[in-house]
Amino acid sequence: MVIKNSTYNKVSVVMFLLISGLTMFRAAEALSMNYYIMRCPMVELIVKDTVNRALQSDPTLAAGLIRMHFHDCFLQGCDASVLLDSTKGNTAEKDSPANLSLRGYEVIDDIKEQLEDQCPGVVSCADIVAMAARDAVFFAGGPVYDIPKGRKDGRRSKIEDTRNLPPPTFNSSELIRMFGQHGFTTQDMVALSGAHTLGVARCASFKNRLANFDSTHNVDPDIDTQFANTLIRTCKAGDNAEQPFDRSRNTFDNNYFIGLQNKAGVLSSDQTLFSSPQTRGIVNNYAMNEAMFFLDFQQAMVKMSLLDVKEGSKGEVRQNCRKIN
Ligand code: HEM
Repeated sequence: MVIKNSTYNKVSVVMFLLISGLTMFRAAEALSMNYYIMRCPMVELIVKDTVNRALQSDPTLAAGLIRMHFHDCFLQGCDASVLLDSTKGNTAEKDSPANLSLRGYEVIDDIKEQLEDQCPGVVSCADIVAMAARDAVFFAGGPVYDIPKGRKDGRRSKIEDTRNLPPPTFNSSELIRMFGQHGFTTQDMVALSGAHTLGVARCASFKNRLANFDSTHNVDPDIDTQFANTLIRTCKAGDNAEQPFDRSRNTFDNNYFIGLQNKAGVLSSDQTLFSSPQTRGIVNNYAMNEAMFFLDFQQAMVKMSLLDVKEGSKGEVRQNCRKIN
C-alpha cells in the first residue's frame, strides 16, 4: 500500500502529539520534588509550620511522626494506609497491637484540614505523612533532606498486614532479611534503626529480656548489668511504662549508637546491631561519626519514602485522612 507523503506526514504529526501528550501527562503524574509548586504552593509552609508548632508544645511527637511514616511505608507502601480508621467490616492497621502506641494522628489531621481549605482534593495524606516525618527529623536536630511528592492514598488497611512489621525480638540476620525484602541494604537498615535516637519503648516491648530470658540466662546477657537494673525499675510501673531509647530522647543525634556500644540498647532488635558481627562495624562508625549517620539516614529515609508508592489512578487523594473517599 502506498501512503501519500502528505497523509504520512499528518499521521506522524498526530502520532507525535499523542505520544508527547501522553508522556507529558505521565510526567505530570509522576513523583517530583516540585509536584505541588503549581497545584498547592503553600504546602511546604503549612506542613513545616504545623509540625513546628506541634513539636514546640510536645517535643515527643517528633518520634511519633517518624515512626508513623515507617509503619505506613512498610505495609502496602507509603500510601497512608496507617491512617485509615477501622470500619464495621474491617479492622484497620492502626488497631493492631503493633500500632497501638503510634502517635501524631492529630498533627496529620490538622495539616490536612488546612490544606483542604487552601487547595481541596490536591495533597495526599501519604505525602503529608512523609513531609511531616521529614520536618520532624529536622526540628529534632537531625539532617535536612527533601523528598519527591505525588504519592496517592491507598484504599486498603488490614490488621493482618501488620505481621510484616519487624518485631522487637528480631536478631540482625532477621532484620537484614526483612529490610532486604524491601530493597534496603544492611547499612540502610542500621541507619534507619537510628531513628530510635528519638522516643521511647514501653516495658511490654522489652520485658522478655529481664526475666526467664532463655534456658541458661534469667536476664539477657547482652544488657549491661546496671542498665538491666534501670529497665527492671522502669517495668515496676507496668507494661506501659516508658523507657527512652537513649539519653537524649527528643534530640536527633548519634547517642543511640553510643548506647549500643555500652550494651544499653532497649530492645533486642537494637542491641543485636552491636552484638552481631554483621552490623557491629556500622554501629561503631555511626557512634564515632555523627555526620556519616546523618548522611546515611537521610538517604535511607528518601528510599523508604518511595516504597511501593501509588501514582496516578492507582490511588486517590483522600478528603479525610481517616476514611477512603
Ligand atoms: C529495625 C526494626 C525495628 C523494630 C523491631 C522496631 C520496633 C520498635 C518498637 C517495639 C518500639 C516501641 C513501641 C512501644 O513499646 O510502644 C519502637 C519505637 C519507635 N520506632 Fe521503631 N522499630 C524498628 C525500626 C524503626 C524505623 C526504621 C523507624 C523509623 C525510621 C523507627 C522509629 C521508631 C520511633 C521514632 C520510635 C519511638 C516512638 C515514640 O516514642 O512514640 N523504628 N520501634
